[in-house]
Amino acid sequence: MPVQIIVGAQWGDEGKGKIVDHLSEDVDIVARYQGGANAGHTVVVPTKTPSGITTKEYVLHLIPSGIFHKHVTCVIGNGVVIDPVALMAEIGQLQALGINIKGRLLISHNAHLIMPYHKLLDSIREQGDQKIGTTGRGIGPAYIDKYMRIGIRVVDLLDRDVLCKKLKRNIEEKNELLSKVYHSQELNVDTIISEYQEFDKKIDEYVTDTSEFLNNALKKKKKILAEGAQGAFLDVDHGTYPYVTSSSPTSGGACTGLGIPPTAVNSIVGVVKAYSTRVGNGPLPTELNNEIGERLRKIGGEYGATTGRPRRCGWLDLVSLRYSVRVNGIQKIAITKLDVLDEFEEINVCVGYKHKGKSIRNFPTDVQTLESIEPEYRTFKGWLTKTSDVRSYAKLPVQARKYIEAIQSLLKTKVWMVSVGARRDQTLLVR
Ligand code: GDP
Ligand code: IMO
Ligand code: MG
Repeated sequence: MPVQIIVGAQWGDEGKGKIVDHLSEDVDIVARYQGGANAGHTVVVPTKTPSGITTKEYVLHLIPSGIFHKHVTCVIGNGVVIDPVALMAEIGQLQALGINIKGRLLISHNAHLIMPYHKLLDSIREQGDQKIGTTGRGIGPAYIDKYMRIGIRVVDLLDRDVLCKKLKRNIEEKNELLSKVYHSQELNVDTIISEYQEFDKKIDEYVTDTSEFLNNALKKKKKILAEGAQGAFLDVDHGTYPYVTSSSPTSGGACTGLGIPPTAVNSIVGVVKAYSTRVGNGPLPTELNNEIGERLRKIGGEYGATTGRPRRCGWLDLVSLRYSVRVNGIQKIAITKLDVLDEFEEINVCVGYKHKGKSIRNFPTDVQTLESIEPEYRTFKGWLTKTSDVRSYAKLPVQARKYIEAIQSLLKTKVWMVSVGARRDQTLLVR
């Protein structure tokens, strides 16, 4: 297994952090390929205490979810946009836990930096009437600068003169926008320069050519896990545009975001939550604005890991998932949060869409159509049995297996793993 890509197959928050942490046991390297601190990947780790082993929950935003495994090297790839404040906070938290980061964290010299003005512009933009419901982490404005070819990269921190020149130009431009268009406070060049130079000193030891590192690792037959953030329907090309993020969470993004060739990839795993959730605006065809949706939110603890916002909830949507399987080339599925459905007498799965009275089979990515479709459901009998203590797939209640096997057959894709809780031991392999 040279490179295995782990993608969110829906709207993000599928449980990628849990699955990546679980799979990290058997890999050498875990590499994040896109997004930034908009991601919130939760990992639940066993922890020793004087009274025995307990578990602790950690939310990672930029550092790959393999960091809790000592033997794993973690890479932040060139496709990621790095917020120095968020990164330093995360490194600090991990070091406070006694986790050794030195020599285990590598940051791409080509990754772009989130600057204070990106966060400011993100929040100002969201005050308008075409709100996306972003995480406010400056992601969109940072990727705008990247594609405008005026972005500041990690490598720019090395040369004070280059940094000053680029920053001055950018800040002057942004100040004009901030004061003239948004009537907002202007930014101070010198303050930003000194803050980022301070950051440079702290991250210098981690910075390297991560593409070269990964390609050398491939030559040595090391196992690499490419960790996606967000999910397929938040992809800037393939998602529900404009209600998307500004990067490519789909599997194609892994190669550009890490500088590895597509020929190195031999496995693509889609992480699928047993129902649907979405944070922020935009269509969610199976959304339940009722008591059932509230039950899913409550039992599933569906509140954003980054912003704490309540996640919108609905039934599983196989029409959109068929599209996700196709666009990502998903070969195997990891279904998460099956246990959340334990208490439901009936469980619906969307198997078709109706638009203006006509059935449509393919997932429409234009928002106008998506917002006016009627989902068609197939109803499954609930299993009404606690699954979080089950430790083998064969021991799951029959109805739960029927639910999983129906997903497998309707998606024509193998279900490889089923998760029945946030902990590592609550992961069942489907043989
Ligand atoms: P990610 O962004 O895809 O990594 O997902 P998040 O961490 O944002 O959200 C997933 C949430 O579900 C986290 O709180 C996880 O601890 C939790 N979780 C993951 N897998 C399971 C599961 O199988 N069952 C339950 N009940 N919770 C899970
Ligand atoms: P993980 O990796 C769920 C959503 C935001 C918003 C849209 C654009 O934890 O699955 P952005 O700040 O990226 O410009 O916001 O994307 N969003 C996520 N939703 N999980 C995430 O990450 C998300 N990252 C961004 O809510 O709708
Ligand atoms: Mg998340």
